[in-house]
Amino acid sequence: MKKEKIVEEGYNKIALNYHSERNKFESIIELRQFTELLTSGAKILDVGCGAGVPVTKYLVDEGFSVIGIDISEEMLSLAKKHVPKGEFLKADMSEMDFLDDSFDGIVSFYAIIHLPREKHAFLFKKFRRILKPRGIMLIGLGSSESEDTGEYFGTKMFWSHYSAEQSLELVKDAGFEIIFEEVLERGGERHYWILAKANQ
Ligand SMILES: C[S@@+](CC[C@H](N)C(=O)[O-])C[C@H]1O[C@@H](n2cnc3c(N)ncnc32)[C@H](O)[C@@H]1O
Repeated sequence: MKKEKIVEEGYNKIALNYHSERNKFESIIELRQFTELLTSGAKILDVGCGAGVPVTKYLVDEGFSVIGIDISEEMLSLAKKHVPKGEFLKADMSEMDFLDDSFDGIVSFYAIIHLPREKHAFLFKKFRRILKPRGIMLIGLGSSESEDTGEYFGTKMFWSHYSAEQSLELVKDAGFEIIFEEVLERGGERHYWILAKANQ
């Protein structure tokens, strides 16, 4: 089975359980650093938006215009309920298509970790293309190299990461200037966070 299908079916099964545990992971500090670099009304893409809480909701409540995309129908239906002012689309992040220079900002929390890593370089180049020059990107990635299928909330799930060092090189190569990069522990898990600005 295609790895993305495992992830889609998995999140369709666990959407409510995932959402009820989501508050374990604090997201506000990095989100504030991201929004401080944007002007009011900026257009933001939330990639792998999940149930829309807390990230999409925070951005919409701050007055930004937000599109959330996700591969899981069940996660999206929660997001639509939680964030009525958001716009939501079902799409695989590696296949989504937007015009060049469509967004002022892109965020992706805990989602790229589920995309087969051989697609990460292509994804970061796509992020660069659909962001305006000097657009801002905040992404959470795996902190160490691994690829695994395992159990998550009682269902099958797939994860795929490069090391932080490898991910950093891919992001720079895609055309980003790094503002902040660090492995942070949140809710007992370590993830690699990059805040970056699209080159001109
Ligand atoms: C751990 S959840 C995180 C959700 C949300 N960003 C948050 O902070 O709570 C991962 C989300 O990424 C989505 N996802 C995983 N792979 C994806 C892909 N290839 N394209 C789009 N969404 C994907 C999942 O369906 C799920 O909703």
